[in-house]
Amino acid sequence: LNKIAVLTSGGDAPGMNAAIRAVVRSCAYHQLECVGVFRGYEGLIEGDFKPLDARSVKNIINRGGTFLKSARSQEFRTKEGRQKAYDHLKKANIDALVTIGGDGTFAGAIVFNEEFDFPIVGLPGTIDNDINGTDYTIGYDTALNTVVEAIDKIRDTANSHNRLFLVEVMGRDAGDIALNAGIGAGAEEILIPEQNMGKERLVESLKRSKKSGKSSSIVVVAEGDQIGKNILGLADYIRENLTEYECKVTVLGHIQRGGAPSCYDRVLASRLGVGAIDALLNGERDVMIGIVHNRVVSIPFTESLKGSNKIDEELIRVADIISI
Ligand code: F6P
Repeated sequence: LNKIAVLTSGGDAPGMNAAIRAVVRSCAYHQLECVGVFRGYEGLIEGDFKPLDARSVKNIINRGGTFLKSARSQEFRTKEGRQKAYDHLKKANIDALVTIGGDGTFAGAIVFNEEFDFPIVGLPGTIDNDINGTDYTIGYDTALNTVVEAIDKIRDTANSHNRLFLVEVMGRDAGDIALNAGIGAGAEEILIPEQNMGKERLVESLKRSKKSGKSSSIVVVAEGDQIGKNILGLADYIRENLTEYECKVTVLGHIQRGGAPSCYDRVLASRLGVGAIDALLNGERDVMIGIVHNRVVSIPFTESLKGSNKIDEELIRVADIISI
């Protein structure tokens, strides 16, 4: 093993820079060459590479986004695209690839692996926390803090006006952001794809809480939730069926993807980055490095896509009890 490439792909996540930095510095520590690939699989297909040494990654541990940039590559979904990527890797004498991203990134890596038998190690980088085999993904903790901070602000104004706010949060098909940020921000109700609440029950519950003396309410809605998918339609339904409150909608959107990574994400990214190079040096191939019970672990790549299903009933119960 002499030369390793690193890239970030798919939706960016705070802490990706810290992960790249750890990979690059771990390579330097073990006297391996390291090459950064720009714009994810797009850059692999175009041969957009740059050698990185320990000093190339200074002053980035604190920065959101990814300095290597990211993309959702359509061409990498084609056989021709992947062939071009392989040719560039070979031409540059690269022995292994560290790919940082979410499920789309891993799905691409698995196909590439099967076709060319090229060693790849994946690091889970996505705010969604929807990867199997790791308790946390890089960027998730920062996104949670961003969401909680935003909802705190919404709460101030919601309370002043006795209003009901529907706050839509990201997470694609996973409710992790909604459930945890919802608990942290003291939401009245939390709508997540893993548990179908239904709008009738939602309105009933909001009516009950109004009667019990609440003057304002915050409902956190995961973007992947069945009724939450049409949040404006949901707001209309609430306006028709719950006259007690004035209802407003806030879609938090991409602010959830930006900002300086939290300390937790920086440490997680650093541990996983070092873990990636350790795994390659140990002869491991086609694995994802994750964190389970606060220990760095590696699991077969294919396991990572088996649906995270990490929403646990205990959290749902806590959310129910504390919003009474
Ligand atoms: O996977 C991260 C994520 O932010 C999801 O939460 C969201 O559904 C999606 O990416 C948005 O993608 P894009 O930035 O391409 O609009």
